Amino acid sequence: MRNIRLAFRVAEMIPRRGVSLTGGKFSPRGRILSKYAPNGRRGLNTSSRQSSNVSDTTKKLIESKISLDGRVTIITGGSRGIGLALAKTAAALGSDVAILDVQEPETSVSQLEREYGSRFIFHRMDVTSKVGMNLAFDKVVEELGKVDNCVTCAGIALDKPFLEHTWEESRRILDINVLGSFFSAQLAAKQMVKQGNGGSIVMIASIAAHCAIPAQRVSIYGASKGAIKLLGKTLAVEMAPFNIRVNTISPGFIATKMSAQFTDLQEVFKTTPPMGRIGQPEDLLLAVGYLLGDGASYTTGTDIAVTGGLHNGRIEV
Ligand SMILES: NC(=O)c1ccc[n+]([C@@H]2O[C@H](COP(=O)([O-])OP(=O)(O)OC[C@H]3O[C@@H](n4cnc5c(N)ncnc54)[C@H](O)[C@@H]3O)[C@@H](O)[C@H]2O)c1
Repeated sequence: MRNIRLAFRVAEMIPRRGVSLTGGKFSPRGRILSKYAPNGRRGLNTSSRQSSNVSDTTKKLIESKISLDGRVTIITGGSRGIGLALAKTAAALGSDVAILDVQEPETSVSQLEREYGSRFIFHRMDVTSKVGMNLAFDKVVEELGKVDNCVTCAGIALDKPFLEHTWEESRRILDINVLGSFFSAQLAAKQMVKQGNGGSIVMIASIAAHCAIPAQRVSIYGASKGAIKLLGKTLAVEMAPFNIRVNTISPGFIATKMSAQFTDLQEVFKTTPPMGRIGQPEDLLLAVGYLLGDGASYTTGTDIAVTGGLHNGRIEV
């Protein structure tokens, strides 16, 4: 088992070097360098050594279930915010990563490669361009050899009263958020079917797919994310015979440049979730990491809401 730089490394987003659950230290590509006895576990008697062997087996099993070693993951909208955090997560779990976005990544691919020890590539791609999308996905296969996972994260938001929405801006929301995600998933799935080894697709929906949001008027945005949430179910059923799993994540208020643009709502973002804080991109990492890995091999058509509880309502006013 080559990779296993995981749990601790992902939790702390520690690049390159990690510690395995079984106590081995790992090189940047996950090779075991040495074993060590963690504090408090030295001088075990025979029976505790036996139980330690059993727990080591369990830990190795868990490691194999969350490892993405040897995989290739595409992240649309991966140049900043949630997408960039997820690109780093996939790499920390062992995957090579292709970032497809209209803008350059906020961290250069060479720096990401240095920090994570995985291959990173970036291609400029607009999810509203059929030609551009075909070209970019072809490039990923040409350069990284295959596609195992795809996270559709590219998206834009619009906060405006329903009565003032125009055709043009509403169409743009649907083009980017719905059709862009739909055809990204389709291109990834076509390649996965060709490869014959299955795959995992995670589509980023939103709390706006579940309910109205405090202090925001996001009707067409919510409709676009509602479409993503349903696609997670219908595509899951349709693609299951190919062993391609499709799931969605519904983030609540997450501190990124997208949410930062709503300057007058920052206090609302902090105070309205029942958990009493705004979410960070880090709050989404293990949910997406789980859905991408083999640990979720029997999980498809599921939505994980990561909202600090807000999608369930609130008591405090
Ligand atoms: N931040 C939040 O509070 C929040 C909450 C719920 C859901 N979401 C969803 O999470 C996803 C990421 O959001 P974020 O907060 O990181 O936003 P962000 O604006 O920081 O990042 C979005 C990324 O998508 C890219 N993008 C936009 N239009 C594109 C296009 N036409 N083609 C290709 N790439 C494009 C941008 O360049 C950017 O890198 C979005 O789908 C968003 O709707 C965000």
